[in-house]
Amino acid sequence: MTTAIAPELHSPASAEATSDVRSVATPEAAVAVSPALLAEHVTKRFVVDRRKAPVTAIEDVSLRLERGTIHGVLGANGSGKSTLIRLVSGLLTLDEGRVEVFGHDIEREELAVKRLINRVSVDAAFFKKLSPMENLLFAARLYGLDAGEAKRQAAVILARLGIGESRLGRPVEQMSRGMQQKVAIARALLTSPTLLLLDEPTTGLDPRSKLDVQAFVEEVRDVHGATIVLTTHDLAEAERLCDRITILAGGRVVAEDTPAGLKRLVNERYGQPETLEAVFMTFTGRSLDDDDVESAEADTE
Ligand SMILES: Nc1ncnc2c1ncn2[C@@H]1O[C@H](COP(=O)(O)OP(=O)(O)OP(=O)(O)O)[C@@H](O)[C@H]1O
Ligand SMILES: [Mg+2]
Repeated sequence: MTTAIAPELHSPASAEATSDVRSVATPEAAVAVSPALLAEHVTKRFVVDRRKAPVTAIEDVSLRLERGTIHGVLGANGSGKSTLIRLVSGLLTLDEGRVEVFGHDIEREELAVKRLINRVSVDAAFFKKLSPMENLLFAARLYGLDAGEAKRQAAVILARLGIGESRLGRPVEQMSRGMQQKVAIARALLTSPTLLLLDEPTTGLDPRSKLDVQAFVEEVRDVHGATIVLTTHDLAEAERLCDRITILAGGRVVAEDTPAGLKRLVNERYGQPETLEAVFMTFTGRSLDDDDVESAEADTE
C-alpha cells in the first residue's frame, strides 16, 4: 500500500550526510536520530537593485527540529519567515550555510528531500479549472503514488477538512479562498508530509475552518508522526499548536523556546505579562515598554 502520510525513512546513505547525530553505532542508528530539520548558519540575500546593497532576508539562522514536533516561526511582516520556508523547501538557493532534512542535505540530495517535504502557502497554485480531487490526483501522480489508494486517501483527507463529496467534482476556481486553502493543505498531506512546511495555513479562514485546520495539523503530528514548521500571525494558534517557537526579527533568530519558556523569559527578564503577545512585542522590537527591552533593537525593516 502506498501510504500517503508516509512515516519514516531509512536510508543508510543519509547517515553519511549527517554530521549532527548523537549515536553513530550503525548508519541506521545515525539516521534514526538525525533531526527532522537542521539549518546551520543560513543566510539569504536578494538583489533588488544592482546599484544598491542586497537585502538580507535571512541572516545566520540556525534551527533544529526534532521529529514529531510542531515548530512555530513568528515575526513581523518582512522578518523572513516565508523566505526561510522557501529556502528549506528548495524554492530558493542558500547563499550561506546548510540545511538537512532527515539527514539529507537539501542541495546534494535534492530528490530525497523533495519526497520528504511539502509546503503550503497562502498563495497555493492550482489547476483552477480542475476539481479538488483532480488536483490531488495530479499531485499524487507526480509523486508516484498508487492512483486507487491516492483517491481513497484524498477523499478521507478532504472530508476530514470539511470538503464534502458534493464539492469534490467542481472546479477549484468556484471555491472560496478558505476552501482553496484547505484543498492546498489536503494536497500537501496527500503527497509527502514527513516534514510539512505550512506558511500561514489558516490566514483568511473563518473561525470554524481555522479550528478544522488546526485540529488536523495536530492530528498529522500525533497520529502520523509528521514534523511541522508553521508560520502564523495568530498568536493563539501558535500557543495552541507549537511545541517550540522561533522568533525572527530582521531575518535573525532573536528568541527560541517553548511557548511557556518564552513567556516566562519576558516576565522574568523584562517584567512583561506572561503572554505570547508580550513575547512577540518584546522580541520584534515593538515593545509595550521600550525602555526596558534590549532585544527590541532587532532591526525589523
Ligand atoms: N523574491 C524577493 N526579491 C526581493 N526581496 C525579497 C524577495 N522575497 C522576499 N524579499 C524580502 O525579504 C524580506 C523577508 O520577506 P519574507 O516574505 O520572507 O517575510 P515574511 O516574514 O514572510 O513576511 P509576512 O509576514 O509579510 O509574510 C523582506 O524584506 C522582503 O521584501
Ligand atoms: Mg510570509
